[in-house]
Amino acid sequence: MILKQKYGSRALVAGASEGIGAAFSEYLAKSGVDLVLLARTKEPLEKFAAFLAESYHVNVKPVCCDLSDEDTVKNLTDELRENTVDILVYNAALSFIGPFEEDTPEHMNRIAAANMITPMNLVRYYGEAMLKRGKGAVILMSSLAGFQGSGYLTTYASTKAFTRIFAESLWYEWKDRGVDVIACCAGATSTPKYLATNPGKSGFPAPRVTTPAEIVEECFRYLGNKPSFIAGRGNRIAAFFMQRLMPREIAIRIMGNTTRKIYNI
Ligand SMILES: NC(=O)c1ccc[n+]([C@@H]2O[C@H](COP(=O)([O-])OP(=O)(O)OC[C@H]3O[C@@H](n4cnc5c(N)ncnc54)[C@H](OP(=O)(O)O)[C@@H]3O)[C@@H](O)[C@H]2O)c1
Repeated sequence: MILKQKYGSRALVAGASEGIGAAFSEYLAKSGVDLVLLARTKEPLEKFAAFLAESYHVNVKPVCCDLSDEDTVKNLTDELRENTVDILVYNAALSFIGPFEEDTPEHMNRIAAANMITPMNLVRYYGEAMLKRGKGAVILMSSLAGFQGSGYLTTYASTKAFTRIFAESLWYEWKDRGVDVIACCAGATSTPKYLATNPGKSGFPAPRVTTPAEIVEECFRYLGNKPSFIAGRGNRIAAFFMQRLMPREIAIRIMGNTTRKIYNI
C-alpha cells in the first residue's frame, strides 16, 4: 500500500538536515508526505526544506530546536502540539568517541537526552494520538554499536541498545493497533557526521560502509513486518558472526579493539 494511504500525510523527522535524516525526509517528500523537519542549525535546515518543497510539491516546515535539551517536548510550540504527525522518524543522536571518563558529565547527560529521553517523550506524545486514529508509523535509528559492549563508545552504544529494545517492545504492544514501530540498526554509514570523525582502517575485515539512501529503502521495506532490522548485507553477516557464533566476550573485544584502532585511541 502507498505510504501516505497506509499511515497518513504528515511526517516529523527529528535530525533532518543531512545524512540519514535528510534521506528519510527526501523519501517521504517523494511519496507526497508533508514534513516537519527538526535540526539545530537554521540555514542548512531552511535551505533543505525549501529544496524539498520546491522539488516534490509538498509542505515542509523547518523548526530549529536542540533535541539534547531534556525539555524539548515540553517546550514544543503550540503549532507542533496541535498538528497531526502520522509518521515519526527519530534520527538525531549525539555521541562521544573516547575513554568514558574523558567526556564531561554535562555532555553525557546531553547524549542521554538526545538519544533516549527526547525520542521517548516524542513517541509518547505523538504515539498516543496515532493509537487513537488507529494508524501511524514510528522509525527509530539504532546502531550495531548497541548489540554488545562497545568500548570507547560506551555512552552512545548504551543509548542505542535502549533504542532497539524500546522500539521492539512498542512494536509488540502496538502491532495490532495499526501503529508500526521499527528500530533501524545501522553500521558505518557515509553521512557527513560519520565522515567528519575521520575513521581510519581497523585492520580487521569490515563490512562495506552503507549509504543513507540504502538504509531508508530497506527501512520502508521492513516497516510493518519486523520490530528491528540490520541495514546492509555486510552488516547482517558481521552481526550474525558476532552475535550468534562468537562468545560475547570476544564480540566485545572486537568492537573495542576496532574502535580503538579506527580512532587511534
Ligand atoms: N553514520 C553512521 O555511521 C551511523 C552508524 C550507526 C547508527 N547511526 C545512527 O543514525 C542516526 C544518524 O546518523 P548520523 O549521526 O550520521 O547523523 P545524520 O543522519 O547525518 O543526522 C544528523 C542530523 O541530526 C541533526 N541533529 C544532530 N544533533 C541534533 C540535536 N541535538 N538537536 C537537533 N538536531 C540534531 C543534525 O543537524 P544539526 O547539526 O544542525 O542539529 C543533522 O540534521 C543516529 O541516530 C546514529 O546513531 C549512524
